[in-house]
Amino acid sequence: MHKPQNLILVIFGASGDLTKRKLMPALIHLYLQNLLPESFAILGVSRTEFSDESFRKLIFESIKEFNENDEIQDDLINNFTKNLYYQPIDTADSKEYAKIKTRLNELNEKLNTNENFIFYLSTPPSLYEVIPNNLVKHGLNKNEAGWRRIVIEKPFGYDLESAIRLNEKLLQDYSEDQIYRIDHFLGKETVQNLLVTRFSNGIYEPLWNRNFIDHVEITSAESLGVENRGGYYDKSGALRDMVQNHLLQMVGLVAMEPPSSLDSRAIRNETLKVFQSLRPIQPEEVDQVAIRGQYVASKIKNEDVPGYREEEGVDPNSKTETYAAIKFYIDNWRWGGVPFYIRTGKRLPTKVTEIVIHFKQTPHYLFTKKNGSEACNQLIIRIQPDEGILLKFGMKVPGSGYNVQNVNMDFHYSDLSNVKLPTAYERLLLDAMLGDSTLFSRGDAVEEAWKFLAPIQKAWESDNNIKVYGYPAGTWGPENADALIENKNTTWRYPCKNLTGDGLYCEL
Ligand code: BG6
Repeated sequence: MHKPQNLILVIFGASGDLTKRKLMPALIHLYLQNLLPESFAILGVSRTEFSDESFRKLIFESIKEFNENDEIQDDLINNFTKNLYYQPIDTADSKEYAKIKTRLNELNEKLNTNENFIFYLSTPPSLYEVIPNNLVKHGLNKNEAGWRRIVIEKPFGYDLESAIRLNEKLLQDYSEDQIYRIDHFLGKETVQNLLVTRFSNGIYEPLWNRNFIDHVEITSAESLGVENRGGYYDKSGALRDMVQNHLLQMVGLVAMEPPSSLDSRAIRNETLKVFQSLRPIQPEEVDQVAIRGQYVASKIKNEDVPGYREEEGVDPNSKTETYAAIKFYIDNWRWGGVPFYIRTGKRLPTKVTEIVIHFKQTPHYLFTKKNGSEACNQLIIRIQPDEGILLKFGMKVPGSGYNVQNVNMDFHYSDLSNVKLPTAYERLLLDAMLGDSTLFSRGDAVEEAWKFLAPIQKAWESDNNIKVYGYPAGTWGPENADALIENKNTTWRYPCKNLTGDGLYCEL
């Protein structure tokens, strides 16, 4: 890893949750690994009044609270926070940006940062047009000497139309390679490992297609509810919050053709092609291929858990989905006829994200069918937690006859005792500083993803006959979602049981 050039990172929304929980802990880890530039500053911007000193104090506290790895000594945190500065402004008022410009000029001079500035928008999406536009008014989007980049958090748009509009607006004053659209799932080590698993192992590629794969399943489950984000979530829902970005990006990496190189353009071209090949869902089939659900109150481990509609900030009559499952196809030579199933939900029995490649059954099963022994081979790529990879296959039970038992061949990252997986934000912040956009979503791919989901969004918004199924908090979502996938050989994979039943066990 080489170090980025000297730069100033401007974080809008600097007193917000994302900055405190994710960005600052990631930045200090980069700092401790000596991966930040020789000379740099982090300029926090938001409406709240802080001085440089009080902002440093706030961040000191949040690093203590949210740092996930080994404890960091106070003097190291203090060394890091010396690089922090703060400028309060009303981000909606374009005149106020003069203050940022002055601050940037001073810091640039002092730190010799060659006018290399990154503007990170860790703000509500309503400011994604406003801030870049106000930066333009003060000439902060371009310069001769160094470079300028903007990093935009998800959700990028609210639907297809708004995403197209936002892209158009941004591209009037910024070039595509200045825009870094974050999807933090792409920064996860195990998501990147998908590329390595597929393209560095000769054994998988010949099998990775419609001839050998029966179906592909992707699950991203969370055990928590909406916590304190009810206000945001109720206007978003699982489709916008998780499917449009995180789940479809994983589909892109699982399904893409081998890129010609590891170059960002080559990789992102291949993901785009996958999205362009998604078979459009017809309005009249939405209720058969997409299931939505909402968690209702239940008891988990003897504790009462509120239903979604009782959560703070949520409309008591809300129809917003906290669970979504979709069946779809990719119409191309590799995947023609292979169903893909994706599902995500809040208040499911556990937090887990995994991709399961289900291989086809042998043409004729020779052995006695017992205890699911005839089940197909599965390759399970565990994105989180307990990151790893597992292959399920049949083995002969020692002794007479041919008793077959399913066994696992597995690898867990935790077995590599000296390796700590970097957080997604660590990787993505470093890449943005290095100017590598491979793990960021390109504008055209974001639009394709919205386009694919548009019929579902429209039907869910306007067709009152499409039900929102309730599921008790702590279970695997509405039973109706089983019908999407179930036939005599197939069900969803359940990495652990419902919490409201006979307790939790985890298989991996
Ligand atoms: C975010 C969503 O993008 O991803 C959240 O807005 C969700 O609702 C989160 O909880 C999940 O991310 P992770 O990395 O915790 O799995």
